[in-house]
Amino acid sequence: MKVDVLLGLQWGDEGKGKVVDVLTPKYDFITRFQGGPNAGHTLEFNKIKHVLHTIPSGIFRDDKINVIGNGVVIDPVIFKKEIEGITKLGINLSKTLFISKKAHLILPSHRILDAASEAAKGKSKIGSTLKGIGPTYMDKTGRNGLRIGDINLNFKEKYDALVVKHRLMLDKLYEFEYDITEYESEWFEGIKLLSQFQLIDSEQFLNDGLKDGKSILAEGAQGTMLDVDFGSYPFVTSSNTVCAGACTGLGIAPNRIGRVIGIFKAYCTRVGMGPFPTELFDEDGEKLKVNGNEFGSTTGRARRCGWLDLVALKYSIMINGVTELTMMKSDVMDDFDTIKICTSYLVNGEEVEHVPYEMTDDIKPVYTEFKGWKTDMTSVTHENEFSEEFNTYIDFIEQETGVPVKIVSVGPNRAQTIERMID
Ligand code: GDP
Ligand code: IMO
Ligand code: MG
Repeated sequence: MKVDVLLGLQWGDEGKGKVVDVLTPKYDFITRFQGGPNAGHTLEFNKIKHVLHTIPSGIFRDDKINVIGNGVVIDPVIFKKEIEGITKLGINLSKTLFISKKAHLILPSHRILDAASEAAKGKSKIGSTLKGIGPTYMDKTGRNGLRIGDINLNFKEKYDALVVKHRLMLDKLYEFEYDITEYESEWFEGIKLLSQFQLIDSEQFLNDGLKDGKSILAEGAQGTMLDVDFGSYPFVTSSNTVCAGACTGLGIAPNRIGRVIGIFKAYCTRVGMGPFPTELFDEDGEKLKVNGNEFGSTTGRARRCGWLDLVALKYSIMINGVTELTMMKSDVMDDFDTIKICTSYLVNGEEVEHVPYEMTDDIKPVYTEFKGWKTDMTSVTHENEFSEEFNTYIDFIEQETGVPVKIVSVGPNRAQTIERMID
């Protein structure tokens, strides 16, 4: 069997959680391979709206195994809250949730370091979610990190040693005031809860599963334009959000990757700082924000909105080897007279069709205009109900990218999902 990978092609919040939940019945295992509680994946079904941060979005389907892979970073406090929220809905995770011993822990002091680093950057700050993601991955690659598997191995000693280092940085380098006492005690409560779960060698578990014919879906977090290597650096997150990240974040060999499902909004959003060539500052931008309820699932911050950026989308498709596309939130543009797609950039007066080395604020988008579909997409259930204008919009994206749009999402609910009958 192969591992299918589902990932965001823009700047995050494309709707990954919703689609993973929709596709889960087709798989045996659902896995997260990178990121941490900077992610907020929203699921809506049976009048329930739920946001997941660390736990894979397959958790609401009966009998599916959900695995938090080695590439993920976990904050025990947020994890405990997530578990409590899901348990309240009557779901018992003790038999369905597995956690890699190699996943790294976000310490309370990592969160403080994140805040201190952002404060020190001043105007050039990243706009981090302040969940401690950057400092935790820095300790991972710096070979100082604390892993889930350490919980029973001189844990307190290792914890204290790392905190001493962090305190030194906070006091001497950042001169940052902080108090972690309260968070620290919640953190150790979280560790207690974590240790009751099935902590496993997930790379072995998943490869054994593949050998036994189990199918796996890998759920990306963030988006390709936030990838630490290929995103709009330095305004990115600290992990590899791209398809290759599923190999390193799960211990899956590249030749085991099957379908690569790339998700994008019919327009674009970004939360946090950094370049965004198609960002709109006018009424259309405001309308996208209001119609799309574009407020962060993790931080509640307003998302910046703009037209679909095909230059960035094609780049993401190339980096990830996307085999099929899923277009989200089409319904948000139901009442637009005109819709635009950016097909090239003007960089220093020169027209280019690729993402330049440095994505700066000076890039000017070149647009192709489309007539709006002016129909209520939210109640559409089959592709043969698509209007001519809507089909023109999809056809253009397929022709430009050379990749089929296999799923169209027309609302936040699980049921508002249309699978197109194309090969
Ligand atoms: P993720 O991080 O990629 O999982 O996406 P988020 O959950 O952060 O953000 C996507 C938001 O859009 C959530 O509030 C979803 O409930 C909502 N959503 C998902 N698909 C659709 C859609 O097709 N139409 C509309 N209107 N909302 C959607
Ligand atoms: P999901 O999985 C949107 C953004 C932050 C910030 C930058 C770095 O829900 O799509 P970090 O906390 O990682 O150091 O922040 O990345 N960011 C996201 N934006 N969706 C996310 O996750 C994000 N995770 C991080 O806003 O600009
Ligand atoms: Mg999100």
